[in-house]
Amino acid sequence: MTNEAPQKIYLAEYKPFPFLIDGVELNFDLAPRATRVKSKINFRPNPDSDSREFFLHGENLKLISAKIDGKEISPEVTDLGLTADVPNAPFVFEAEVEISPETNTALEGLYMSGGMYCTQCEAEGFRKITYYPDRPDVMATFKVRIQGSESVLLSNGNPVEQGEGFAEWHDPWPKPAYLFALVAGNLVAHPDSFTTKSGKEVELNIYVRPGDEGKCAFGMEALKRSMTWDEEVYGREYDLDIFNIVAVDDFNMGAMENKGLNIFNSSCVLASPETATDANFERIEGIIAHEYFHNWTGNRITCRDWFQLCLKEGLTVFRDQQFTSDMRSRAVKRIDDVITLRARQFREDNGPLAHPVRPESFVEINNFYTATVYDKGAEIIGMLKRLVGDENYKRALSLYFERHDGEAATIEDWLKVFEDTTGRDLSQFALWYSQAGTPRLKVSEAFEDGTYILTFKQETPPTPGQSEKDPRVIPIAVGLLNPNGDEVRETCVLEMTEEEQSFRFSGLAAKPIPSILREFSAPVILERETTNAERAFLLAHDTDPFNKWEAGRALAKDTITRMLTEDRTVGSDLLDAISKVRRDDSLDPAFRALVLALPSADDIAQTLFDAGHTPDPSRIHTALETVALSYATHLQDVLPKIYADMHIDGPYSPDAEPAGKRALQGAVLSLLSRLDGGNQARAQFAAADNMTQQLQALACLLRIDRGREQLAAFEEQWKDDRLVMDKWFNLQTALAAPEAAVQTTEALTKHAAFDWKNPNRFRATLGGLTGNMAGFHSPDGSGYRLVADWLIKLDAANPQTTARMSTCFDSWRRYDADRQALIKAELTRILETPKLSRDTTEMVTRILG
Ligand code: PHE
Ligand code: ZN
Repeated sequence: MTNEAPQKIYLAEYKPFPFLIDGVELNFDLAPRATRVKSKINFRPNPDSDSREFFLHGENLKLISAKIDGKEISPEVTDLGLTADVPNAPFVFEAEVEISPETNTALEGLYMSGGMYCTQCEAEGFRKITYYPDRPDVMATFKVRIQGSESVLLSNGNPVEQGEGFAEWHDPWPKPAYLFALVAGNLVAHPDSFTTKSGKEVELNIYVRPGDEGKCAFGMEALKRSMTWDEEVYGREYDLDIFNIVAVDDFNMGAMENKGLNIFNSSCVLASPETATDANFERIEGIIAHEYFHNWTGNRITCRDWFQLCLKEGLTVFRDQQFTSDMRSRAVKRIDDVITLRARQFREDNGPLAHPVRPESFVEINNFYTATVYDKGAEIIGMLKRLVGDENYKRALSLYFERHDGEAATIEDWLKVFEDTTGRDLSQFALWYSQAGTPRLKVSEAFEDGTYILTFKQETPPTPGQSEKDPRVIPIAVGLLNPNGDEVRETCVLEMTEEEQSFRFSGLAAKPIPSILREFSAPVILERETTNAERAFLLAHDTDPFNKWEAGRALAKDTITRMLTEDRTVGSDLLDAISKVRRDDSLDPAFRALVLALPSADDIAQTLFDAGHTPDPSRIHTALETVALSYATHLQDVLPKIYADMHIDGPYSPDAEPAGKRALQGAVLSLLSRLDGGNQARAQFAAADNMTQQLQALACLLRIDRGREQLAAFEEQWKDDRLVMDKWFNLQTALAAPEAAVQTTEALTKHAAFDWKNPNRFRATLGGLTGNMAGFHSPDGSGYRLVADWLIKLDAANPQTTARMSTCFDSWRRYDADRQALIKAELTRILETPKLSRDTTEMVTRILG
């Protein structure tokens, strides 16, 4: 049997809710299987609505009683909510419901994690707590009373009263239900405080389970840095007396910006040098900032409806990226972000899941927390800022906060503040929000009589539901170099608006070498006929660090694709160019490490596919190994010296500078281990006093002799640390040799510590396999089968994480007919599972196309 096609919701059908809310009171009486929730909601007719239909969302609730103006009513109740007759005047609605947090494995609504109660309400989880208009445009102030025996009882806003077995909270800022949160547990606090620029004292806490106290200090410092930064850069101050963060082990996403009570996946907040890598530290800092920044971009100004999700997410990602580039290295941050954008968003935009940054319809909103909404949403803001300039961006943002504070806004509202600030017409620019697909930008050039002409042609391939595309506004940052390597024209931004457009640069003595799309000024795919000699030239001379790195990356990609399509070997052009950068001590070590890193197998597969070839995962794997070995032999003489030069004396610090040194040292170690049988890696593993270096060494040894001895030692050392054990699971499936990957994964799913209901553990283990391209795509289909089996099992417990992980199949049409048939069979099997969730049904249906 096939599951019925679930109902679609359309942006075009938006209607305001017929009632407004003047205040909400909630009362929780906690019990694992029978929590009682009493609500009292003051409604009044909404003058902007002509309907008086009273429907409240509610799912998996046991209704005990309902009252209107104190009188018991018998509302009509379905699986989705409650309908009642109400007066055409202000009225009070009261309800009492019973819910079961302990059996809530979907991790939406009120659930339990490691003995504590916690909530997740975005996007539509509040309806699993009580009957309510669970939509972001209904904003209200909340008073919450919690009764429970736990030592810590938290909700949003400011604490009003605490006593034996109860606590009361009041949130004075009107908010939509998705920002509601409640936590109850025997937790310990890592306390601190912050004084805002206007002198307000704010109490800060990070709450964790006993035993994790030692992993809070970095997160707390990151929080204070974020608070200062938002005051300095955006003029935004915090607006409550208290700001709490709680770490939970079972969480579907990274973290959640609930008003005054952020809830974090413990992997995104807990860190100590021994247990977290440099990358973890940087990510934690970025996510803390992201959630904190939501207080203004998301909470004070929220979204009118879920189609506007990018209004808060795109902007908040953009803000957290700005923050990280201010805290660390701007160049390295931009390169990292573009690598992620291409790996996740370009992949999405070029496959069956492509959708506009502001989608026009959805079945399950949880399926739209995507790289497109988040990361392309952030790129759009970067383009806007580049087009209007920094000063206008600042003015537009001030106007945005002034005009829409306390409101649920739209993308139209957002663009309007830029139009009103600058007088620009942004109707063509708005296409970035409505058109899916990554534009291809073809470049051609001419030089005559001292004038250099660059001609661009833009084209966006069709995407599901959108066959025709209109030309967009594309800001193209360009600089020109002389053949001797000097910059003859500094960066300028060309504003492309036509399908085809030329730009002239006159007064040049010689034909210049162009550096196009500096800083990756637009999320497009640049297509330009060029030589590896020119790429090597740009890698050596470009003053724009992004394009300098990009030239090296293009050179490596060209080499690898030719190895696969023309049976070429690794050429000296690549090796010489890379080794120059590798040896150049004047460059930031983090940058040198990025130049050393090879493109991912997935990137190569997509590139081959775009060029009309059928990628073969195992040959791609071999080619990448071959290039790594060539790098190693070519640099043989300098590797030990670089390794030694990157040594850091003194205690570990997660700052950008030492982290960059460790990154380069790790890249060098990986090459060295291909030559020395793993001696250096074994020594590093034995001596490591921090997770970064311990994990780097373990990764090298896995490739050499499967690291048996070190894996066992690592497990013994870390068996009681959940987050570190996630790394242990992940490394083994992610780095297993192609022929061993499925078997290794299967064995790990039988390990006593494989808790499949914990999303972190599930993702670490199965996600490691799906990211191991050659292993996942084993020609016998065993990788597909194993992953499909687990997705089917997980779907019954946790639809959201299942649906998200089903995207591992989204690029199935790239591969050969046999693999396509195998994948299609697995996708069909998933789709035919009885009672498959709406989440997974929508995703798999779209992937099948
Ligand atoms: N709003 C969260 C963020 O981006 C993400 C999230 C969405 C978390 C849905 C949980 C559920 O910061
Ligand atoms: Zn967010």
